[in-house]
Amino acid sequence: PPQSYIRAAGAPLTVIAHRGASSAAPENTLASQEIARRGGADFVENDVQPSKDGVPYVLHDGTVDRTTDGSGAVRSLTSAQIDALDAGSWFAPHYKGARVPTLAAQLDDLRTRGGDLLLEIKGAHTKDEVATIVDTIRDHGMTGRVFVQSFEVDALRYTHELAPDLPLGLLRSTLDADPVALAKELHLAAYNPEDGALSKKPSVISDLHKAGVAVMVWTVDSADRWKALESAGVDGVITNRPTELNGWNSAF
Ligand code: G3P
Ligand code: CA
Repeated sequence: PPQSYIRAAGAPLTVIAHRGASSAAPENTLASQEIARRGGADFVENDVQPSKDGVPYVLHDGTVDRTTDGSGAVRSLTSAQIDALDAGSWFAPHYKGARVPTLAAQLDDLRTRGGDLLLEIKGAHTKDEVATIVDTIRDHGMTGRVFVQSFEVDALRYTHELAPDLPLGLLRSTLDADPVALAKELHLAAYNPEDGALSKKPSVISDLHKAGVAVMVWTVDSADRWKALESAGVDGVITNRPTELNGWNSAF
């Protein structure tokens, strides 16, 4: 990995805005990204998956039904169809007309206005699909500002083969038997467990740190848990309330 993401003693938690500032604006839109930026988040987290014609789009679910005025699987819709969707009205009338961003549009916004990206490759991807994502990151000159994560081991393997300079995180809903061995095998810069799963065995934090691997925990929205995780030594927190976590960090 190009650098360590392990938090220095006494340093604040890394603030990662889950789908942008998704408690304040529609998730995975440029609006939620803007609020995360203004609130001082270190990273915006988002989810990427391809349209029918192979364009990477920023959307969490496998379908557009919950977060747009359309319906159908993302992979069954063309980019022209996705571009026509309203991704804001479901959240609040104020956001009517917000679009499902392409990854390219999101990277343009970050490059020009500031901010780094924790990019989740969502669901199974072919190596060609991962190559399109990697090329988009490179074409935007954002290699040094993007951290790739996934639940999909193959997507991480492909990313490493195509772009060994991109830092990698493995998302986990339950802890692996040997997270350190897996981290070494996959060239991970971070191991990113769900909060409740990590609570079952917090000793993995120091095990991973000894191997140079950071721990970013999801999805944590309460100050009580931020405090517990800070004390336990985790490095970053993925939260729907990034502005509040940033304020909590400063006041701590
Ligand atoms: O970044 C961690 C988190 O985003 C994983 O869960 O379902 O929100 O993508 P999900
Ligand atoms: Ca995600």
